Amino acid sequence: MAALVLFGGGGDLAMRMLLPSLYFLEHDGLLPDGLKIIGAARSDETRDEYVAKVRASVEGKAKADDAWSEEAWARMDARLDYLPVDATSADSLKPLKDKVGDGGVTSFLAVSPSLYGRIVTALKDAGMAGPKDRVVLEKPVGRDLKTFLEIDDAVAHAFRENQVFRIDHYLGKETVQNLIALRFGNTIFEPLWNNLSIDHVQITVGETVGVGDRWPYYDEYGALRDMLQNHMLQLLCLVAMEPPSDLDPDSVRNEKVKVLRSLRPITHEEAERVTVRGQYVAGTSEGKPAKGYEEERGQPSDTETFVAIRADIDNWRWAGVPFFMRTGKRLPEKRTEIVIQFKPVPHSIFDRDDTGEVQANRLVIELQPEEDISLSVMNKRPGLDQRMQLQPIKMSLSWGQNDRRAKPPRRRIAYERLLLDALHGDSTLFVRRDEAEQAWKWVDEVSEAWADGEIKPQEYVAGTWGPDAADMLMARTGREWNSGD
Ligand code: BG6
Repeated sequence: MAALVLFGGGGDLAMRMLLPSLYFLEHDGLLPDGLKIIGAARSDETRDEYVAKVRASVEGKAKADDAWSEEAWARMDARLDYLPVDATSADSLKPLKDKVGDGGVTSFLAVSPSLYGRIVTALKDAGMAGPKDRVVLEKPVGRDLKTFLEIDDAVAHAFRENQVFRIDHYLGKETVQNLIALRFGNTIFEPLWNNLSIDHVQITVGETVGVGDRWPYYDEYGALRDMLQNHMLQLLCLVAMEPPSDLDPDSVRNEKVKVLRSLRPITHEEAERVTVRGQYVAGTSEGKPAKGYEEERGQPSDTETFVAIRADIDNWRWAGVPFFMRTGKRLPEKRTEIVIQFKPVPHSIFDRDDTGEVQANRLVIELQPEEDISLSVMNKRPGLDQRMQLQPIKMSLSWGQNDRRAKPPRRRIAYERLLLDALHGDSTLFVRRDEAEQAWKWVDEVSEAWADGEIKPQEYVAGTWGPDAADMLMARTGREWNSGD
């Protein structure tokens, strides 16, 4: 790969995530030799101005992570270039094409998805969609199945599927990949990984931030389309998929798409019972007063900033095991976790009054704020009590626990993994067209049921875990959300 072009190279995603990720890869000597990194955007600035901006955004982050080195920066500086372009016009792309030559270019579209169709067409016309070229697309691709297909048809017209890298940055998170290692690198979990031993699964993606200035985008999408259609369904797929035959991109993605196809559609009648929509009103977030969503938006809105859903997977492995998902803005904690709740022991030999309750095992895969996998097991409390006393303990299965003296590796930005994979042409951790299609199909049914049943978001106070109905969703089935304690 001769060049990586960042369309939208001066924008928020590029400056906050992509360029720092590229710097970290440079620092660790992982970028391909000779790779040029070219920022391309509408703004008429010079290379030097652009490079100064990149340095300003990278340096602070790298220093905070103890990974700043003038030498690494000098190497990155030598790769960087900038070109003002109108990416929707093949003519305007000509000078860029001349710069990148014929050695293969990866075009990363960090721009508004409404431009994707026109940009890929322009790339094709400018000769930047040849067999050696690739394109990377950020989510959201479309806002429903119809608009996804419109955009993706234009993409398919310019590039073959194996040249298209649809990013879901959750797949680049270390713990997500660790989940694959945990499930398929051990014999002890897989025999239990089914409806005989697992009671239910919970996926929580809690954020403390509000929507703030992002409302022009967010108001059109809402939590269902912004988080659940992509990040949360991807996590669900990795928990629920059958063992792939190998880690080949298509082997993994074939298994994921089978899960999406097995998701039981949520009917209009059921939507009220198995889904919850919420929107935050003014409250307190992280100790500070926080505005309500409508105040940020400046006018009334029916967009949900919180969603909770019970999903059922209709296949042999998961029949009868509900998957509960919830995500929202302005929740009390930034916490992302997958909880695998095992069933209780079939018969307890312990006297509950004397020994305390035997709690069912629980595997918690925490993605944020810590990266940790822990298994709760019952244990005897040490001592000479006449009757045995039980207590739950948490066993950490994380890297750091193996060798407490070793310094844990720097926590990487998810984009480091994904950029590197895209540059190497490995699409295992990217979303294939049929996956995105199935995910939209399922999510469209939910949004249609909401529209049809006039199901509006329920209020929740900023800084709380969403509307009470989200707790009821679990409580009705005799379960509760993991409190994180
Ligand atoms: C993005 C969403 O995809 O993911 C944002 O558009 C959200 O609304 C973000 O805040 C969360 O990502 P992370 O990695 O901070 O959990």
